[in-house]
Formats: sequence, C-alpha cells, structure tokens
Amino acid sequence: MRKLLTSKWTKGAVFLVSSIPFLLLSWGLLRGDLGINPVETLQHTTGDWTLRFLIFTLIRYRRMLGLFAFFYVVLHFLTYLGPDQSFNFSGMWDDVAKRKFVTVGFAAFVLLIPLAATSTAGMIRRLGGKRWQALHRLIYICAILGVIHYYWLVKSDVRKPVFYGALVGILLLWRVWDSYFRGKGTAPAPVKTGVSATI
Ligand code: HEM
Repeated sequence: MRKLLTSKWTKGAVFLVSSIPFLLLSWGLLRGDLGINPVETLQHTTGDWTLRFLIFTLIRYRRMLGLFAFFYVVLHFLTYLGPDQSFNFSGMWDDVAKRKFVTVGFAAFVLLIPLAATSTAGMIRRLGGKRWQALHRLIYICAILGVIHYYWLVKSDVRKPVFYGALVGILLLWRVWDSYFRGKGTAPAPVKTGVSATI
C-alpha cells in the first residue's frame, strides 16, 4: 500500500486530478460558460477549492496539495483584487480592515506565502527538519482561518462552513492523537522531501 501511495504514478495522478477544477474553470471562461455572474463563479469556485485543498493537506501528499491550495488562493485573491477592487490597493486595505471575513481570509493567504516559498527540497534542507516542520504547522492555522472566513461571509445557511469546520476539527484531533501515540511509541517520522512533507 505504502509503495502505491509513494509511487510517482500515483503522485502524477493526484496532480492531474488536482488540476481539474482549474481546467474546468479555464474551459468555462473560454467558452463564456460561467453563468450569469462569471466573476462570482470564479471567486466562489476558487474559494471552495482553496479550502478543500487546505483540508486535503491534513491527510496526504501535503506538499503537493498545499501548493495547489496556494495556487487556488492566488486565483481567488486575484478575482477579488481585479474585478472586485479594480486593482485599487488602498481600497483593498480599507476592505481588509473593515470586513472581518476579508481580514481573516487575507491573514490565511499571507500565512500561506512562507509555506509555499519554503516548499522546495532545498529549503527543507536549508531550514532543517525541525524548524521546517514547526513553520509548516501554520497550515493548521490557515485551515482554521479559512473555515472562519467562510463562516463569517455566508449570510444565512451556515451548513457548508460548519461541515468544513467539523472536518478540520476531526482531522486536527486525529493529527494530535497520531503524533501523541507516535511520540510515545516509535521515533517521529523524519521530514522527507517527498510526500509526507507539509506543503
Ligand atoms: C486560505 C485563504 C482563503 C480561503 C480558504 C477562502 C475560502 C473562501 C470560500 C470557501 C468562499 C465561499 C465560496 C462559496 O460561497 O462557495 C470564499 C469567498 C470569498 N472570499 Fe475567500 N478564501 C480565502 C482567502 C481570501 C482572500 C485573501 C480574500 C480577499 C482578500 C478573499 C475574499 C473572498 C470574497 C470577497 C468572497 C466572496 C464573498 C461573497 O460572496 O460575499 N478570500 N472564500
């Protein structure tokens, strides 16, 4: 099983599947087929996929899927900065300060930047396993902020953000449980420059 999960074919397949939302959005955009409000469709779809990929990183292929989360949040942010704010940075800062759901979304985005920037094998070596791992625990904060961002932006039906929040809660508890028992039993798994690394 472990062999299958770490094989380059499986990783290639995960990469392709992770690209599908982007390919579908691009296709819809090219065909002018993103509904009556294409900007809203882009913003919501990229936001949804950012949160989903943040959650996926808590399970497997953390580095690759974390980079996909970053990729989708950059698209999400660009649909906000461009069509929403007309690339007016001072207006954007006002909005970040004023609307609390934008504040937390922005905070999550900013926290993801150092994670994406240190996702290469070279950076893992340079930082050293322990420091790198400590830095990459920020992914948990990003996932929590992502859920709060979603919860605060919905107007009435909170079922989806609550569902994502429950998933994040369960996965974080599982990670705490796992590291506690791993710590007691066997030695902690070394940081690898492959699948088991966060982002
Ligand atoms: C890790 C960071 C982020 C995550 C996980 C995230 C996630 C989401 C999600 C799930 C939605 C709702 C999608 C839906 O309704 O189906 C959303 C909407 C939105 N997000 Fe984010 N987002 C993030 C960062 C940001 C940032 C950096 C900004 C802007 C500075 C932003 C601005 C917005 C806006 C304006 C909406 C639409 C609100 C509305 O429809 O009223 N988000 N985001």
